[in-house]
Amino acid sequence: MLWTSRAKEANMNKISQYYKEIYSETSSFQNLFDSEFINYNSREDKHWNFIFKDELKKFLFSNEISSKDVNLENLHNEIGQEYFSFNTIGQQNNSRPKISDIGFDFILQKESLYHDFLRWVRKKIIKKNFYFQKTPTIRFHVPGIEKRLSLPAWHSDSFFGHSPKEINFWFGLTDNKHSDFWMNSLQDSEKWFQEYSYDREAWKNICFSNDSDFIKKGFINAFEVCDIYDNLAIFDSRCIHTVDYRSERDPTTKITIDMRIILVDDYEWLLVEERPIFVGDGIKKAEFRPGSKYGYHKKSIDEIMFDK
Ligand SMILES: [Fe+2]
Repeated sequence: MLWTSRAKEANMNKISQYYKEIYSETSSFQNLFDSEFINYNSREDKHWNFIFKDELKKFLFSNEISSKDVNLENLHNEIGQEYFSFNTIGQQNNSRPKISDIGFDFILQKESLYHDFLRWVRKKIIKKNFYFQKTPTIRFHVPGIEKRLSLPAWHSDSFFGHSPKEINFWFGLTDNKHSDFWMNSLQDSEKWFQEYSYDREAWKNICFSNDSDFIKKGFINAFEVCDIYDNLAIFDSRCIHTVDYRSERDPTTKITIDMRIILVDDYEWLLVEERPIFVGDGIKKAEFRPGSKYGYHKKSIDEIMFDK
């Protein structure tokens, strides 16, 4: 099909219509938790934050990056600055420092730990079958770096190609006073997205234009996620959120892991005008479907539940 500008516009309208409907529905997350956000206390149950932290410390030591008893909250002072410098200026947060590549290697090496974590999530929290992101993301935020990322960038992950039916998980491996992770309620998120006619392209244009009114608006009613080392923040993917730079109010290194799951019952591979809509914006063009290279693992959690 010739992709004319008129066809492109019709396609965008259909996608916006889809988002409008989805934003008005009660999600599986809301049905499960009677809320759009929960801060699940992991310290009182199984302290995954500590387990991942401990494994990360061992990994950094065995790769001769840090000392054995490194203090991760002070990582920016304990290892060389070259780990945190950016070589390229990226578009839409694509550029990353060396420490992020090290983190990525760590995550790949700890796949079985990640699967154990997911089995536990299935049993203790979600209690339903789900697909999950094949590779979670580990992020390092250090104070005093050049501001090379486009932050804060208010968004729902679904504006960047994820399904709005996903459930987000986000937690800290470091014990920081401030998370710099800000969330809007679902009601405020819907109202705000409506101002852009549920058009994810229009949203991204303003989001990456560094518009100070847009940035300020997000903070008016947002709340900051707290106690990130004691909890797993779990939320309805439609909630608009952002991370901000580390600042003087808490000049520590923050390390977090985030990942997304989707209930098997909610999963769909939606095509609009023969084009898939759950495709990531990044260079990898991740397709959010089971078995794709950068999307969900090919097996659902129930299929790996007893695979050991
Ligand atoms: Fe996000």
